[in-house]
Amino acid sequence: MNARPVIDDLSSFWMPFTANRQFKAAPRLLESAKGMYYRSTDGREVLDGTAGLWCVNAGHCREEIVDAVTRTLGTLDFAPTFQMGHPIAFEAATKVASLMPEGLDRIFFTNSGSESVDTALKIALAYHRARGEGQRTRLIGRERGYHGVGFGGISVGGIAPNRKTFSGALLPAVDHLPHTHDLAHNAFTKGQPAWGDHLADDLERIVALHDPSTIAAVIVEPLAGSTGVLVPPQGYLQKLREICTKYGILLIFDEVITGFGRLGKATASEYFGVTPDLITMAKAINNATIPLGAVAAHRNVHDTVVNAGAANAIELFHGYTYSAHPVATAAAIATLDLYQRDKLFERAASKAEKFESAAHALRDAPYVKDIRNLGLVAGIELDSRDGAPGARAYEVFVKCFEAGVLVRYTGDILAFSPPLIIEDDQIDQIFGTVRKALESVK
Ligand SMILES: Cc1ncc(COP(=O)(O)O)c(C=O)c1O
Repeated sequence: MNARPVIDDLSSFWMPFTANRQFKAAPRLLESAKGMYYRSTDGREVLDGTAGLWCVNAGHCREEIVDAVTRTLGTLDFAPTFQMGHPIAFEAATKVASLMPEGLDRIFFTNSGSESVDTALKIALAYHRARGEGQRTRLIGRERGYHGVGFGGISVGGIAPNRKTFSGALLPAVDHLPHTHDLAHNAFTKGQPAWGDHLADDLERIVALHDPSTIAAVIVEPLAGSTGVLVPPQGYLQKLREICTKYGILLIFDEVITGFGRLGKATASEYFGVTPDLITMAKAINNATIPLGAVAAHRNVHDTVVNAGAANAIELFHGYTYSAHPVATAAAIATLDLYQRDKLFERAASKAEKFESAAHALRDAPYVKDIRNLGLVAGIELDSRDGAPGARAYEVFVKCFEAGVLVRYTGDILAFSPPLIIEDDQIDQIFGTVRKALESVK
């Protein structure tokens, strides 16, 4: 069916976030996808336990999205959005805005999560400057946070390997809150841990250290994904919101993973009932069909920036050639329509309990030292092999792939985030395959 030639030279593609030599010695190649499954180049079906990279929430190659992309490609391949526009961009923005929490209805388009993060940080600085508080330049992230790979994102991010090579070039005025992971208190919690909301109080310490008048924004993932699924303690996000409001600090939720149904609501903000000032998103915004990201800004933030200068002056010197690319935004409209038509957020919510019990059933499997979950996300933390951190989880990942299930691993943590169309037997297949893999590794 697939007419592509067999690839025999893997040397030119310098692969991202990959052990290139290890991969190229034993490659895992996917050549097509449909619904819940990939097909590998050796002709095997592979159940997608990760929605690609936390992004294909509606399942693969959905006809409605493919049609929208194909149609748009043939009618408007590209149109600039600097001092020009096209209707699809405005329609997509309205659609995205309709799914955001009350007030966050001004949408700035980017091409990725990393760009969304850097855009949100810049909007925060522009907002304070427009208010006459341009000295508010300090940004606060969190240990173990992942905010993409731009210089802004790695500066506020808290994952050491992503930072250390570039440590001399990180943004200068950044602090980090403590992360919320503590197995002594939270191991094997189903849903949100009861312990840990006091960790948000550290923000008060940072504010006292620097003075609120210097602080622009706090950025956190409401549920930390890439570091290995850290679910926020009960009341934690509410506390961050209160402290930010008290000191006039903008709160940014990085919803690049949680955006669009992962927790059973359009956003994690809606799920947790906490409204930030800015939300970053990407990935599932258009089912990952074409690169697209966005920042939703509260109307007040937008209006403060946009109304600050003369009406004929550009207000924000920021944007990308492909901001609101017609094909990517057409894919977003089709995707968001599909989520609503098929009630996929509700579907995710309805499968969360089954997903939780299937994940936690692995509690007695070898090497398992923690299991955590919320919505259609779960993480299983393993004991590390002596002297070889990450090796055991890597082997489990490879064994699962060979057995027909795609999972993700980071360090010694396995992560699961399937498309929201997953069926019960597929949930069982994912965790059953993981159990067998755990029983077969050393
Ligand atoms: C919370 C969060 N922010 C930002 C990013 C970066 O997104 P991208 O890889 O599209 O740049 C990711 C990617 O996983 C993410 O999980």
